[in-house]
Amino acid sequence: MRFHPVVSVLVAISAPLATAQLNSYAKKAGLKYFGAATDSPGQRERAGLEAAYPQYDAIIRGTSEFGQTTPTNGQKWLFTEPERGVFNFTEGDIVASRAAENGQLLRCHTLVWHSQLAPWVEEGYWTPEELRAIIVEHITQVMGHYKGQCYAWDVVNEALNEDGTYRESVFYNVLGEDFVKLAFSTAAEIDPSAKLYYNDYNLESPGAKSEGAIRIVKLLKEAEIRIDGVGMQAHLTASGAPTLDQQIAVMESYGALGVEIALTELDVRVEMPTNETSMAWQAEVYKNSVSACVQVSACVGVTIWDFYDPFSWVPAVFPGEGAALLWFDDFTKHPAYYAAIEAMTKKTGNYTCRSKRRVTENKRSRRLY
Ligand code: XIL
Repeated sequence: MRFHPVVSVLVAISAPLATAQLNSYAKKAGLKYFGAATDSPGQRERAGLEAAYPQYDAIIRGTSEFGQTTPTNGQKWLFTEPERGVFNFTEGDIVASRAAENGQLLRCHTLVWHSQLAPWVEEGYWTPEELRAIIVEHITQVMGHYKGQCYAWDVVNEALNEDGTYRESVFYNVLGEDFVKLAFSTAAEIDPSAKLYYNDYNLESPGAKSEGAIRIVKLLKEAEIRIDGVGMQAHLTASGAPTLDQQIAVMESYGALGVEIALTELDVRVEMPTNETSMAWQAEVYKNSVSACVQVSACVGVTIWDFYDPFSWVPAVFPGEGAALLWFDDFTKHPAYYAAIEAMTKKTGNYTCRSKRRVTENKRSRRLY
């Protein structure tokens, strides 16, 4: 068949998009992975969608789409140590073993977090010695169980308030910031091969909270305790996300401390029902976040917080909002999917000049495809 030249050009442009696959593009752009969190079937956010599982599984298993996964819930304290000394890895293992079968990197999530914490920890009256022993035992057992399987662990999750001070959790109330040191020093001993991350939300633009994260990295480094990464959760909204420049600036500020960075839980929620405008805004936000990661040498990868809207946590937590991921209920893709691909293929924003600067610094060839 012979195409008119214009048709040929259109075919050439649309062909890569038709077969676009996030992880393949991420790797070409120099990232380690593009991934998606997933739950074990029993923990999926909206039950009653079993008929969708085969199609869902086929997508999440495809490594050209997703080179990495994170268990959305199964490794959290509530599930792994629901009672003191009683450990259960059933749910976390489902996702971990699938990652291994599929040849996907596993980000492990999370060891010390005030939320989805077992009530026995939260409701106890602990002396500092008792709580230290509880933290050490939890990390030893959970990290020990997954030893060698995790590319990274979110060792401490969401320890900060919006003003950069520490959140009042049972951990902070009893131990002060020593709980952060204890968690990381224990983690470093248990699995030397896992990258150790501090992970939080609203770390995507420079400000009081990002300064708090920087303080945590410095605290650990000054104490000679290993920390390898800052995880920016990136639970964003289509109407009010940080700009590309803000995201680049904040990533550079973490990277300057000698740690890597990842977008660990990216989703971009919109008011429901969706419309063309909200989908276009969402696409722009995804593009900027992915683009920032591509442009900053310390940023290693992007994880979206599930990929299929019906399994997103958003509608349950933010009433009236949803459609935060890249696949709609009927498995068609959001415009944001293609925007994310674009961020990994095209020179957007001030990309070119940043790449040039990096070339002179001899830092990376990965941005020069
Ligand atoms: C969410 C899960 O997606 C939900 O299924 C669960 O009910 C609540 O937690 N920050 C985190 C994640 O670090 O673990 C949270 O995941 C979302 C916010």
